[in-house]
Amino acid sequence: MSDAKADFELYYARRKQALGVLYEGDEFLYPSDGPWPEASFDYPYGQAPQVMNIPADEQRDWQKNIGRYYTDNAVGTFYNRSPFGVAAAEYARDDLMQNGVSGYAEVSDDDFVALICEGLFSKFLSRLDPQDVALFGLKPTDLAPDSPYEYYKSDYRCMMVVQQTWPGEYACPTIVLVRRKRGGQKRYADEGAYELMAIAVARKPANVPPGDAPFVYEFPPELVFTQAQDSASAGWFLAKYFVLQGAAHRINLIDHVKVHFPPDAINALTKTILPKWHLVHQLLEPHFRLTLPVNNTVLEGQRSLINRDTWYPWSPFVAVGNEVRKLFPFAWAGAGYYGDKYYGADAEQLGRNSSYPAFRYSTNPDGMPGADDPAVLIPNFIGMDCSRYGAFLKSYYPPILKFVTESLKEIGDPASADPKVQVAWLEVQHWAHEISKLLPGFPDENGILAEGELARVCAMVIWNAAVVHSSDHTTLHLMMDTQPVPFVLRVPPPTSRTGTVEETVESALGPTVSGYLKSGIAEVLKAWEREGLKEKLEGAVVEKLLEDIGQIKLSHKEIPLCWPTDLMYARMADLLFYRPHNTTLLYDCEYAFERDAQTDEEKALQALWIAAGRPVLTADQKQRLRGLRKSFQAMLDAVNQQYYNADGTPVLPQTGNPNYHSDTDAAMQHLNRFGFPKLRPGTGEAGDTGAMLRREACIGAGVQY
Ligand SMILES: [Fe+2]
Repeated sequence: MSDAKADFELYYARRKQALGVLYEGDEFLYPSDGPWPEASFDYPYGQAPQVMNIPADEQRDWQKNIGRYYTDNAVGTFYNRSPFGVAAAEYARDDLMQNGVSGYAEVSDDDFVALICEGLFSKFLSRLDPQDVALFGLKPTDLAPDSPYEYYKSDYRCMMVVQQTWPGEYACPTIVLVRRKRGGQKRYADEGAYELMAIAVARKPANVPPGDAPFVYEFPPELVFTQAQDSASAGWFLAKYFVLQGAAHRINLIDHVKVHFPPDAINALTKTILPKWHLVHQLLEPHFRLTLPVNNTVLEGQRSLINRDTWYPWSPFVAVGNEVRKLFPFAWAGAGYYGDKYYGADAEQLGRNSSYPAFRYSTNPDGMPGADDPAVLIPNFIGMDCSRYGAFLKSYYPPILKFVTESLKEIGDPASADPKVQVAWLEVQHWAHEISKLLPGFPDENGILAEGELARVCAMVIWNAAVVHSSDHTTLHLMMDTQPVPFVLRVPPPTSRTGTVEETVESALGPTVSGYLKSGIAEVLKAWEREGLKEKLEGAVVEKLLEDIGQIKLSHKEIPLCWPTDLMYARMADLLFYRPHNTTLLYDCEYAFERDAQTDEEKALQALWIAAGRPVLTADQKQRLRGLRKSFQAMLDAVNQQYYNADGTPVLPQTGNPNYHSDTDAAMQHLNRFGFPKLRPGTGEAGDTGAMLRREACIGAGVQY
C-alpha cells in the first residue's frame, strides 16, 4: 500500500540530493527551535492547531508594540493612572445619564435589523437548515428558488454550551429569521431591504439537576416571537438583547477566532520551512508580524480576557473563560463537535448547522468548499451579497490577488528545467505538504502546483489578515462606541410570549446593591433631619418609602439589564482589545524583496547563497517587484476611493451619531457610518491625526492586536 506522506518525504529528500541542496542554518529565519503548530491545549480535535514556542524576537516585538500599550493604558503610570479605566468609568457614567438604570439603550426593531443585517454581525447570515424551517413554520415553497423572498437566519444556537454563567447573569440560545425580496432593487439593510420576521428563544428544560452536567436546551414553538404579533411584548423586548448577547459572544469566540487562529499554521511553517531568500517567505512575512505572540497571549496569557479560570476587569463575558471557551470548537470542528449531551436526540441533524461549518481552507472570499463535495462552494454572507460590509471586504480582494499573482511569477514555472526554479518549487511543495496536514482543505504538495493555486492561497492569507481582521475590529469598535453591547444580562430570558416581565427593585438590584440604595436614602433622610427639612415631608410617607423601596415593581423597560460595572468592563475590553492598534499597514508595510542587501554581513550572506545556487532575487527582479508594489498601491487607492475622498473624508458622510464617545480620541469620527477602515490617512489628515488614524482606523498589514 502506498503511503502518500512517506512518498513525499522520500521524494523531497531525493530531490534535494539530486539538486545538490544542503542548507546552512543562516538561510533560515529560525535556524533552530522554529515555531511549529501543535494540537491545541483545550480541544485538540475541536480547535485549530496552536503555536506555543514563540520566537524570542517576535515576543520582544510584541512587548514593545503591544504589551507596552496594554500596560500603559490599563495600569497606567504614576501620573496617569489607568487611562482606559478612567475612560471606562466615564463611559458607564454617561450611559447611566442617557439610558437610566436599564443600562443598555433601547433597541428598536429598525436598529436591531441594522445590527443583524449590516456590519460585523452580517457575517452570521446564513441559509436556513431543515430544523429552522420547521421551527419557524415555513413552507417548502417559501424556500423554493422561485419564492419571492430570500430567507436568512442569524443563528446563536451556539450559546447552548454557555450554561454556567456568573451568578445573577443569564445567557440563552436564540435564532433570528429575516427575509428580503429576491432580486429586489434594495439589497442592503440601510436601504430597508430586510424584514425582521421572528426570533426563536430557547428554554432551559424543567428540573435540571444541580451540578455541572450539560443539559439540552429546547426551542419550543411557543417561544417563537413574531414581529407581526409580538413586537409590543416584554418578551420581544428582552429577546432582542439575548440575540445581541449571543452575537457579541459569537463574534469574539467563533467568527473572529476564524480570522486569528487557523492561519497560525501557515504563519509558523512559512517562517520555519521556507528559507529567507524564498519569495513566498518574503511576500507573506510582513503580514505575519506580531500574530504568533498576539494569538498565544489571547489563548495562554495570564491576563487574557479569556483566561480559563480567573477574571480581570477587561473581561466582558457572561461566564468564566473555561465556559465561554466551549464556543471555540464551533470555529474549527463546527457545530458537529458537540453531540447528544448538548443537542439531545436530534444531535445528528443539529450538528449539521450551516451557520457553523467545519473549517476548510478557502481560496475564494465568497464561501467555503462544501464538506460533502469540496468542488461545490457553499456561499457565505459575501457570496450571497448580504451586506455592504461583505461587499467592502470583497472589494479589496482583486487587487491583492493580482499583486500576488504577478509577484509570484518571478519564481518561474513549476515545469522549468532551471535547477534554481526547481529548488524554489520543491520548497513550496514541502511547505504545502506540511500545512495541508494541519489545515483541512489547504492544497497539498500536488494541489499547490495547479496553475494559480499558490497565488490564490497567498492572496487569501493577506486579505484575511489585513482586510478582514482590521475591518472586524473597526466595525466592532464602532458598534461598542455608539451603543452598549449587551455582553452581560442580569434578567432571565423570556419564558412566554404573553407574560409581562416585572421585577422588584430588591430582586433586580440584588441584596448588596439594594442595601446600598437603602442606606444611601437613609443617609439623605438623616441629612434632611439635621437641616430641619424632614418635617416638610409627610413623615410617614418617608418612612414607608424606605420600607417599601425594595418592593417597588419595575416593568421590562425599567429593569436594570446590567450594572454600570458591566459597562465598564465591556468598555475596557473594547479600548484594550477591540479598538485597532496597528503597527504597520497593508498599504506600505516593508517587503524584504523591495530592499537591497545593506550591511556587509547581508551582502556576504547573499553572495554565499548565490554561489550555492539558491534562487536569490536578482536586481532586475527586485526592480520589477518594486514596480508591482507601486501598481498594487495604486489599485488599493482606487478601492479606497469608493469609500473615502482624497482628503480622507468619507464618501458617504458620517451621520453624526449622538452616542459617539470621544473619551480617548476621535478616530471613529474619521470613518464612514459603517466604520469601514480606510487604506491610509487622507491628505487632510496629516501630523498627529494621521499617526493616530494609521494606528486606529486603517487597514493593518496583518493580525497585530
Ligand atoms: Fe483580532
